[in-house]
Amino acid sequence: MKIAIGNDHAAVELKFEIASYLEELGHEVVNYGTDETQSCDYPVYGVKVGRAVAAGEVDCGVLICGTGVGISIAANKVAGVRAAVCSDTATARLVKQHNNANIIAFGARIVGVELAKDIVKAYLDAEFMGGRHGKRVDMIHEIEADQFLC
Ligand code: RB5
Repeated sequence: MKIAIGNDHAAVELKFEIASYLEELGHEVVNYGTDETQSCDYPVYGVKVGRAVAAGEVDCGVLICGTGVGISIAANKVAGVRAAVCSDTATARLVKQHNNANIIAFGARIVGVELAKDIVKAYLDAEFMGGRHGKRVDMIHEIEADQFLC
C-alpha cells in the first residue's frame, strides 16, 4: 500500500521508526511530516495527510503528534477523512472494521515505539466489515455534506 505519514515536532523520532517499520512490511511511505524537532503547528501536517488521503493519492494515512488528538482533529476537517486516535490494538482494529478509518493517529507522548508498531499493524491487517457499519459511515458523510436528516 501507499501510506502517507505526517507528524509535528513532538513525533519526529517515532515517525521515522514507524516509517521504517512500514517499509519493512513492504509498504511505500510518503512523508508529509516535519523532520525537525523545533516547535511547529500540527494542523499543517494533519491537513497535508488528510488532503492526500481524501484525494486518493495514497491508500491511507498515519498521523502522530504529542497526543494524536490535535493532528487528527485537523485531518478530520478535510471532507472524506475519517481519522481515529488509538492507544491500543483493539481500538486500532475496530476503527477499520467498524468505522473504515482512513487515517490512524496516535500520540508519541502516549504510546511507546513497540505499541505504536502493533497499533499500525492491527489497523492495516483489519478489513472494513461494511453492512450496518457502512450505513453508519455513510451517515457521517451526510452530516459532513449537511444533508443528514434526523
Ligand atoms: C505540541 O506540544 C502538542 O500540543 C501537539 O503535539 C499535540 O499533542 C496536540 O494535540
